[in-house]
Amino acid sequence: MSAMRIFNRMARILPLRPVGMIPLRCKYTQHQGVKGIRNRKSFFEAQIQAGHRSEDSENLEQEERPCIGDMSDMRFLDDRAYDEVAGGAMRITRDITSSQQVLILQPYVKWAAKRQSTPVDVRPEDQLAEASALIHSLPNWQVARGLKVPLESLEKKTLFGSGKLAELKELVAELRTERQLTCLFVSKGTLSFAQKRFLEAEFRLPVMDRYSVVIQILRLHATSAEAKIQVAMAELPYIWAQAKDASVTQTRRQGYALTDLQKEILRTRERKLRAELDRVRRQRQLLRQKRKQQNYPIVAVVGYTNAGKTSLIKALTVEDALQPRNQLFATLDVTAHAGCLPCNLEVIYMDTVGFMSDLPTGLFECFVATLEDAMLADVIVHVQDLSHPCHDAQRTHVEATLRSLAFNVAGGDSTASQLPPIINVYNKCDLVTSEAQSALDPVHRISARLQSGLEPLLEDIEQQILTATGRRKLQMRVPSGGPEMAWLYKNAAVVETKADEKNPERLMMHVVISQRTLDQFKREFCR
Ligand code: GTP
Repeated sequence: MSAMRIFNRMARILPLRPVGMIPLRCKYTQHQGVKGIRNRKSFFEAQIQAGHRSEDSENLEQEERPCIGDMSDMRFLDDRAYDEVAGGAMRITRDITSSQQVLILQPYVKWAAKRQSTPVDVRPEDQLAEASALIHSLPNWQVARGLKVPLESLEKKTLFGSGKLAELKELVAELRTERQLTCLFVSKGTLSFAQKRFLEAEFRLPVMDRYSVVIQILRLHATSAEAKIQVAMAELPYIWAQAKDASVTQTRRQGYALTDLQKEILRTRERKLRAELDRVRRQRQLLRQKRKQQNYPIVAVVGYTNAGKTSLIKALTVEDALQPRNQLFATLDVTAHAGCLPCNLEVIYMDTVGFMSDLPTGLFECFVATLEDAMLADVIVHVQDLSHPCHDAQRTHVEATLRSLAFNVAGGDSTASQLPPIINVYNKCDLVTSEAQSALDPVHRISARLQSGLEPLLEDIEQQILTATGRRKLQMRVPSGGPEMAWLYKNAAVVETKADEKNPERLMMHVVISQRTLDQFKREFCR
């Protein structure tokens, strides 16, 4: 099989854009006045016209656009027996789009000293707002009411004390007649099996925690084979934990304990998922190697969920296919998008899965493979939603997660774990007053929606990329129309060409070039 066909097949399986297909250099075009942003479609058209790119490769580009992988080997994911077990543990159904009226209870510990030590204390009202956003990320799910509930501790078996419980039961009865309440969302990472069972019996409604709501959202947004496998994997630790908890706290007749057959179903599923995930990881590694060989600089765009990562990449690449959505965890795949820096150097922007605090680690472990790409990028752009009331806490959470990811990628060796340089970007500045902005530390302030502040950001990305990849800006004097000129167009980023004032037969070429490419040039032309 030809290399092209192998790559084509791989690219169909993986959601990554075919970075191998990023074309040869072409004349730099400006887009909407921001240097370094280029319309990808016109870029390809220019390539075809210039003969640098075949019509076939354009078709390939179109073909790769959807993020749906090869699902033919994934039939085992549709398993009724498993669905029953999962539904029992997580209170989730396959029919995610059925309409629901949800009462959100946001428990919090009354006394700051008793709260778990988190880097930044998030206010309960902000936690409640995040819980509402989670519910609104599910179509047809509505928030009937949201309530903060102060507690002495979050670990009590009944979660609420008797007085609070009576109060809440009254509210539930009221909402049941008024709004036809169908579900209770207790916005806590995970509820223990005993807490959940107790509350369900008291309120006579299905009770969900953050883990199970997030799983619903992930199931809905997982379209590629890789994302589906990861979500399916993310469900298993929760089910096992609930079952373990149940066997400790309840007898089989009273509670949710797994039969031997159900345990076997889970084990078999886990085995198959692990095998699939390994296959996907190997392919991802191959793609990573391929990108490395091609020497494309990589910019990973990371951030808290809904911060505007996809919107920023869309603004920097003008890629029509990208669809930012006002939903949490809209992006579940790492996708690669070609862009161009002001010096005409092509880069790959990687869109990544968003982060969120107060989620059990098991939930995101399965997405670590995709985030490893970000850890191995040349530069990381950390997008932050400046308009969000908790943007400080969000930033701290993302930074801590990045550090622990780097630690994992380095195989647990803290001396070897090093993050790529990070560029901090405050997004959604159009929603923030200018006084609020001026009080902030000097980071990039942009609006991906209004495309403002992008020029200095691109210049900074360029500077960091040049330093990180050891590329240099050089002026080279070459014979006009000679093979040197064609070679440089093909192998380096050409910023500008000018006639040499001293010698009409020569051209001055301003190029961005790596040491390796420069050595190749010397070998080829400077004997
Ligand atoms: P996830 O994939 O869920 O992690 O989200 P994301 O970080 O990729 O965010 P996305 O780009 O999907 O944007 C989330 C929402 O914020 C969308 O409704 C965007 O239109 C909106 N948004 C993004 N950038 C801006 C901005 O600069 N200003 C305003 N007002 N809204 C923005």
